[in-house]
Amino acid sequence: MKKIQISPSILSANFSKLGDEIKRLEDAGADMVHVDVMDGHFVPNLTIGPPVIKTLKKNSSIPFDVHLMISPVHKYIQAYADAGADIITIHPEATDNLQNSINKIRELKKKVGVSLNPETKVNIITEFLHQIDLVLIMSVNPGFGGQKFMPEVLGKIKELVSIRKKEKLNFDIEIDGGINFENSKLAIEAGANILVSGTTIFKSNNGDIKTNIDLLRST
Ligand code: DX5
Ligand code: ZN
Repeated sequence: MKKIQISPSILSANFSKLGDEIKRLEDAGADMVHVDVMDGHFVPNLTIGPPVIKTLKKNSSIPFDVHLMISPVHKYIQAYADAGADIITIHPEATDNLQNSINKIRELKKKVGVSLNPETKVNIITEFLHQIDLVLIMSVNPGFGGQKFMPEVLGKIKELVSIRKKEKLNFDIEIDGGINFENSKLAIEAGANILVSGTTIFKSNNGDIKTNIDLLRST
């Protein structure tokens, strides 16, 4: 079994002091930091772009797990790589040619992530799995933090685990959206090994992020 890793989403952090918030995550033992990039077009919300990521990255040592919810994504991959993304995750619906976008991320020597919305089926990406480092399963419709977890996506995690075993592949399975101390257990049991969480990590237990990270990891 793969080690359970925690990727806190800075969407729920205090935006007036993001650098300090990332430092706090590092000190609390987060494995990486999840950066939600939204364009007001692919999803109905807008967040941060490359200049902010670049500045944050300069002052931190933790890997940046960058989740691009932007369309068309292809022409922006370079900018996010240059800004310091370590993992670049894209949605198949946001590119005309998934193969070209995967190639681009690999050429830039970044880890390739592909994300499946709650409605998107695993078979869309089956033929690409051998070139992918991580599959991000959305357990809410992307766009906002603080939404309710959709348990029906757990079946896709099990499906991916079985393909990974059968094809002798090694990609990580990350889950994103509405993760709390109860459903994290279900996600891990299904086979997810990276948990994204914004609200639970930044708001539970009076914002004690170390306790919240430890609790999520040990469920
Ligand atoms: C949703 C984002 C998520 C989400 C996580 O579009 O991709 O990363 O905001 O936040 P919580 O844990 O609050 O659902
Ligand atoms: Zn995300």
